[in-house]
Amino acid sequence: MKVADRQGGGIWNAAVDAVVVTHFEGDSPSTQLSAIDEALDGAIASMLDSKEFKGKSDEAVGIVTLGKLPAKRVVVAGLGKRSRFTPESARRAAGNVAKLLRRAGARTAAFHIAPAEAVTAEALARATVEGLLLASYSFHRYFSTEQQESKLESVELWGPDSTDLEPAIRLAETLCAGANFARDLVNEPPNVLHPVELASRAVALAVQKGLECEVFDVDELRQRGMNALLAVGGGSGTPPRLIVLRYKGDPDGKHPTLGLVGKGITFDTGGISLKPGADMHKMKSDMGGAAAMLGAIHAIADLHPKLNVTVIVATAENMPDGNSYRPGDIVKAMNGKSIEIQNTDAEGRIILSDALSYATALELSPIIDAATLTGACAVALGPFYSGVFSNDDASREIVLAAAQKAGERLWPMPMDPDYRKLLDTSCADMRNVGGRDGGAIIAATFLSEFVGDQPWVHLDIAPTAYADNDSAYYAKDLATGHPVRTLVQLALDMAES
Ligand code: BES
Ligand code: MN
Ligand code: ZN
Repeated sequence: MKVADRQGGGIWNAAVDAVVVTHFEGDSPSTQLSAIDEALDGAIASMLDSKEFKGKSDEAVGIVTLGKLPAKRVVVAGLGKRSRFTPESARRAAGNVAKLLRRAGARTAAFHIAPAEAVTAEALARATVEGLLLASYSFHRYFSTEQQESKLESVELWGPDSTDLEPAIRLAETLCAGANFARDLVNEPPNVLHPVELASRAVALAVQKGLECEVFDVDELRQRGMNALLAVGGGSGTPPRLIVLRYKGDPDGKHPTLGLVGKGITFDTGGISLKPGADMHKMKSDMGGAAAMLGAIHAIADLHPKLNVTVIVATAENMPDGNSYRPGDIVKAMNGKSIEIQNTDAEGRIILSDALSYATALELSPIIDAATLTGACAVALGPFYSGVFSNDDASREIVLAAAQKAGERLWPMPMDPDYRKLLDTSCADMRNVGGRDGGAIIAATFLSEFVGDQPWVHLDIAPTAYADNDSAYYAKDLATGHPVRTLVQLALDMAES
């Protein structure tokens, strides 16, 4: 989909498949809406009168123009109440519009962005383009018959004023290309996307974007003492890998390198502590953190901020087998700490112990990890927020600020030394589980043992990586690409500071 900034003229004259205008619930119609309504003999006013369409934030209606306008159809999208308007309202309206236009088979559209006092034209354009591109995403690779693709080929954005919207449009495109790259990886089935394949996709990405890349195979993992990752991968027919990608936007800079660490369990059966069967297929999304880091570096490489970024992905498949690690095993992570395995289904924290140890040895700062780590985080927050855990207030704040700008929802969770006692065990430095209550915090506490004093922020994306339901710009049973936009925004913000 091509998106272009459009200046001047009346949108009602646009010769496109669909003219899109927005409406605030309870407001009188805008100039654009009124002009269009006049050409449609008052069809929209009549829908507003009858309350068939109110302008609520989840509403979008299509009206066929039957030659009354150059465009084949008009779409009116609700923005909700003006007093509650945020960029997210625009993102959702655009998402609803994209889905409606897909059903209608529209190829070209002119989209009017209504002025809003509290939000800049750039922020509106960015959110609108994000809504269009995220909602137009589909994953049709494995159907044997042709599926209805999004046909939206070009969109003209008609801005609220004379602001140049091109930079905001290009930024949104790059962010969504990164997010959609991550979504593709997560949606791939686990028989295709196993650890070795994930590594080869990362290598291909590095070649495409001009990044440095290293992949540690089993021998190298052994030499480096990454026994925790090796233990988790032991039961799989496909061996584990540790993937390192380096973006050098500031080769001579004295600033520390941003570290992005991802959990890449390509399938999580639970291992010997086998999961129940229902919904187990969704555990192909257990590499959502890894996918997010690769999606982030995809976008960062295109935006070339003046900053160095290193991505570290630990990837393994958690399977039950004669070579599986067992409850009772004690493994020694790269940083020398010993872990007693008490549940092989708490595997994410185990592979991350090596990945975080390595990030710490490289002195990356801050280290941000993203992991579909605990069902407990979803129990705590529901499906809309990721949990944020940190050992450093300043790092937590810049991550939360980036998420706010990017329009992704993160919520800070507590960390407290008292939780550490729950990981005590008789024969090793720690065990890998610590009781049911506070499971997300206990998992984060476990991770904190492997970052030393490096500033570190952990994102538990188990609630958000995979959508169990449709929403304005995500689709049921597909990945979301969360939190790629936040991570890229963070890199941009760090480069600016
Ligand atoms: N990958 C899961 C967490 C998860 C659950 C992600 C649901 C997305 C949706 C993780 O490896 C896991 O199994 N965690 C266990 C930890 C427990 C054994 C302490 C969990 O959450 O039940
Ligand atoms: Mn698990
Ligand atoms: Zn897992």
